[in-house]
Amino acid sequence: MEKLIITQPDDWHLHVRTGAILKTVIPHTARQFSRAVIMPNLKSPVTTVAQAENYRQEIIQAIPKGLDFTPLMTLYLTDSTTTSEVEKAAESPHVYAFKLYPAGATTNSDSGVSKLDLIYHVLETMQEHDIPLLIHGEVTEAKYDIFDREKIFLDKVLAGIIKNFPELRIVFEHATTREAVQFVTEASEQLAATITPQHLMFNRNAILAGGIKPHYYCLPIIKRETHRQALIEAATGGNKKFFLGTDSAPHLQHLKENSCGCAGCYSAHAAIELYAEIFDRAEKLDKLEAFASFNGADFYRLPRNTDKIMIQKATWRIPDNYQVENNFLIPLRAGEDLTWRLMN
Ligand code: DOR
Ligand code: ZN
Repeated sequence: MEKLIITQPDDWHLHVRTGAILKTVIPHTARQFSRAVIMPNLKSPVTTVAQAENYRQEIIQAIPKGLDFTPLMTLYLTDSTTTSEVEKAAESPHVYAFKLYPAGATTNSDSGVSKLDLIYHVLETMQEHDIPLLIHGEVTEAKYDIFDREKIFLDKVLAGIIKNFPELRIVFEHATTREAVQFVTEASEQLAATITPQHLMFNRNAILAGGIKPHYYCLPIIKRETHRQALIEAATGGNKKFFLGTDSAPHLQHLKENSCGCAGCYSAHAAIELYAEIFDRAEKLDKLEAFASFNGADFYRLPRNTDKIMIQKATWRIPDNYQVENNFLIPLRAGEDLTWRLMN
């Protein structure tokens, strides 16, 4: 297949930051996607509907003229999130979900939830109002090996949430392991998962073999090849519980190439093209549209998009970097050739 016409996709997991970075990355996302679920882990996290409204305005200002793009806002759960904030979110036309970051799990998660018991009443209210819970699924205690943190979270934490809140819709964000794929597949309809391009393209050798490659470092960390294969099967297998969420997470070059580099891969510059290449390699291009354009909308109970996009088999070179004021963002696959190109 040389040309693919599919319904316009959505990105169900996206970081855009604020200020100059936001202005650089929003055009990249808006050129491909109709909507994106915006993560709330700013340095000062988005914990209230009022803050989400302000953040939404900043995003809207950065959308290039002529492009139609809708940010779907989320709120960051803390130990002190109130049930009244959940009620406000339920009323808001712009807030679509709450995000659970276990405290210390990842970038800007210090204000995250320290003990799940503290927010049980909040989860109960979310369940009542049918607001989805988005989860960064990793345990955080130092004793756990970083490669095992997701797997352990499934039985130690996620199973309990599902048992106590069987009606709560949950997205297990950026699934990275065979165990997570199996858990999600076997769970009720209430549980779904997003999968990133980097976890579909690479195994942990990309980070560690032949020198440390900080631009492949993200959380949850990229795992062994067997996990990548399970993720490919999940994404391309036609199961509606799995959908596109890039977790594109821009960090400036000097903060990635650092003795304590930040977690996050920037993929918004070529997201749908990266997924197209992945699905092509798996000989499953016919499954891309459901994964990218239908399953997420159906899970969030939003209308599917009606516009179409065209992706062509054509080689183009990804830039070495994107400038952000006096700094740079290094994109995933920087300076390499990509075999699919969005035509618009
Ligand atoms: O690699 C990551 N980067 N994982 C996350 O969970 C957060 C993200 C970020 O905000 O940079
Ligand atoms: Zn994320």
